[in-house]
Amino acid sequence: MEQLLVPTICTVDQLIEETPDVRTYRLKFKDDSLTDSFKWLPGQFVEFSLLGSGECTFCIASSATRKGYFDCSIKRAGIVTADIHNELDEGDEVGIRGPYGNWFPLEELKGKNLLFIGGGIGLAPLRSLIQYAIDTRNEYKDFTILYGARTSADICYKEEIEEWKNNESLKVILTIDKAEEKWKEHVGVVPKILEEKVNPVVENTKVITCGPPIMIKYTLMSLDKLGFAPKDVVTTLEMKMQCGFGKCGRCNIGSTYVCKDGPVFTYEELQKLPDEF
Ligand SMILES: Cc1cc2nc3c(=O)[nH]c(=O)nc-3n(C[C@H](O)[C@H](O)[C@H](O)COP(=O)(O)OP(=O)(O)OC[C@H]3O[C@@H](n4cnc5c(N)ncnc54)[C@H](O)[C@@H]3O)c2cc1C
Ligand code: FES
Repeated sequence: MEQLLVPTICTVDQLIEETPDVRTYRLKFKDDSLTDSFKWLPGQFVEFSLLGSGECTFCIASSATRKGYFDCSIKRAGIVTADIHNELDEGDEVGIRGPYGNWFPLEELKGKNLLFIGGGIGLAPLRSLIQYAIDTRNEYKDFTILYGARTSADICYKEEIEEWKNNESLKVILTIDKAEEKWKEHVGVVPKILEEKVNPVVENTKVITCGPPIMIKYTLMSLDKLGFAPKDVVTTLEMKMQCGFGKCGRCNIGSTYVCKDGPVFTYEELQKLPDEF
C-alpha cells in the first residue's frame, strides 16, 4: 500500500463537535489527484501535523468505502491536541502522512458474527471497520455494537449511532456509567452490560474492541468468562509514537513495533508480549 512519507497538505472540510472534548475533522487533500491514490484499511493510522505546533498519531476513523474524504476524531489530551482544538477550523490546512500500521483481519472476519465493543473515543477505530462492514454487509452474519461512555454527553458520533439503530441488520446497545434523568438505555460499565445484557453467541463470533485501558482490562476478563478464545478477540493499541513506520524505536514492546507490527493485535498475540505491556 502506497504511503505518504512526508506531511502532505489536507484541508479541513468539516468540523464536527462530538463531545465536550472530542472533535471530528473531515479532511480532503488539497491536491485532488491524491484523493483516489490515498488508500487505507480499517485500523490504520496517520501522523497528523498542526503546522507550527507538532505531530500526533490518530487512527483514520472513517472507511475508504465512503469516498472523497477521511475523518480523524481527536480528543483533547495534551499540548498538540489542545492546539488542534483551539486553532484548527474549517478551511484550515494540516499535514498528513501515512497511512501506517496493520489493519483489522478483514478476511478472517468474513462469514462471522461481529461483536464490536467500544468505550469513549475508542469507538473511532471501530467506526472505520463498522462503516466498512456496513458497506459490505453481506459478508458477515450477526452484527452487534456495544458502546459505552462516561455520560450521555460523552457519546461520540451521536447522529450516526441513530442511523445504526435504525438499521435493522445491526443490534446497537448503548450504556453510560451513571443514571441520568432523560437516559432511556443501559446504565453500567461496558463489561457489566456485556455479561448481563448482551448475551453474545460465542461460536463463530469475532470480537473487536477498543477503549480506555481499564475498560479493555475488564472487558477481556468478561470475554474470557463468557468463553471467547483469545485468538477471536482483536484490539488496537495506543502507544506513544514518533515516526510511525518502525524506524525510531519509540513504540516497541520487546521486539514488537506497535506502529509497524500493530496497532491491531489479537488478545492471543498480546499475551505473548513481554510484561512491559
Ligand atoms: C495508533 C494510535 C491511534 C490513535 N488514535 C487516536 C484517535 O483516533 N483519537 C485520539 O484522540 N487519540 C488517538 N491516539 C492518541 C493520540 O495520539 C494522543 O492522545 C496524542 O498524541 C496526544 O498528543 P498531545 O501532544 O496532545 O499530548 P501530550 O502533551 O504529548 O500528552 C498528554 C498526555 O497524554 C498522554 N499521551 C500522549 N500520547 C499518547 C498516546 N499515544 N497514547 C496514550 N497516551 C498518550 C501523555 O502521556 C500525557 O499524559 C492514538 C494513538 C495511537 C498510537
Ligand atoms: S513510532 Fe517509530 S518505531 Fe514505532
